[in-house]
Amino acid sequence: MTYAVAGKNVLVTGGSSGIGAALAEGFAAAGATVGICARRTDRLDAVLARLRDHAPGSRAWTVDLADLDGVADFAARADDELGGIDVLVNNAGIPKRRRVQDLTPDVVESVMAINYFSPIRLTLALLPGLIERSGRIVNISSVAARFSPPSEAAYAASKAALTAWSESMQVDLAVGGSDVRVHVVNPGVIDTDLFHLPDNDASMADIEALPVDAIVQPVLDQLAAGTFEIYVPEWFTDIVANKFPDTGAFLEGSIAWAKSKA
Ligand SMILES: NC(=O)c1ccc[n+]([C@@H]2O[C@H](COP(=O)([O-])OP(=O)(O)OC[C@H]3O[C@@H](n4cnc5c(N)ncnc54)[C@H](OP(=O)(O)O)[C@@H]3O)[C@@H](O)[C@H]2O)c1
Repeated sequence: MTYAVAGKNVLVTGGSSGIGAALAEGFAAAGATVGICARRTDRLDAVLARLRDHAPGSRAWTVDLADLDGVADFAARADDELGGIDVLVNNAGIPKRRRVQDLTPDVVESVMAINYFSPIRLTLALLPGLIERSGRIVNISSVAARFSPPSEAAYAASKAALTAWSESMQVDLAVGGSDVRVHVVNPGVIDTDLFHLPDNDASMADIEALPVDAIVQPVLDQLAAGTFEIYVPEWFTDIVANKFPDTGAFLEGSIAWAKSKA
């Protein structure tokens, strides 16, 4: 049975820019009422105005999701003000392009806080309602979760944690008799602010970035079809499949590639 977002209440974290803003607009255009949250109020307001053209009941909240102690309260407020969340999109996240030799524990932990612990807290806080409403959870992970790019250990580990969590969670929910579906989205290189944020090394990505709108229809299709995991662009699926028969050989290839770019 296909899942339609029309008429549903959708919460998209990190909706002030990039993938989150594009998905929020896509959901609103498809007939959902959408809540967005992030730290930059001015950017949220601009996105909210576009959401309300489609869905007047849409809302925005300014919140720092890296403040883990505040996440449960925010979840309760958003759930209440949206009228019960049907679809949770854990999208807010930060990059960390820095080689391991230059990382400190506090940097690694700050990446884990926003990319892993925060979505987990939000998910657990909203889970009873999501189960009651036969909801959907969409976790925006990354191709980095599957192939651990050079100079991205902290980031790749945070996304791999989110992906592993998603897999186990889907199994637990199904075994427990819930029809809540969990989805993983692995963007490749999508043209967003993520590649221009301070406190990061320059990106090594040497493939053409997709425009941000390219992610919207694949995610709507994923929800409709109930597909667990997608890659955008899709050809990353083959790269990941080719890794697992011989991870050592794959890493040798990564080393050669990184050296060629040094
Ligand atoms: N672009 C890509 O190629 C790519 C590839 C793989 C995965 N991803 C993932 O896609 C997601 C969206 O990234 P993007 O590419 O769209 O970059 P982006 O434009 O920088 O979006 C990141 C979003 O997260 C929000 N955010 C960051 N820290 C936050 C915090 N502490 N509290 C609340 N919100 C916070 C940002 O809003 P504020 O700054 O206003 O708080 C922004 O809305 C991320 O999880 C990223 O890891 C992107």
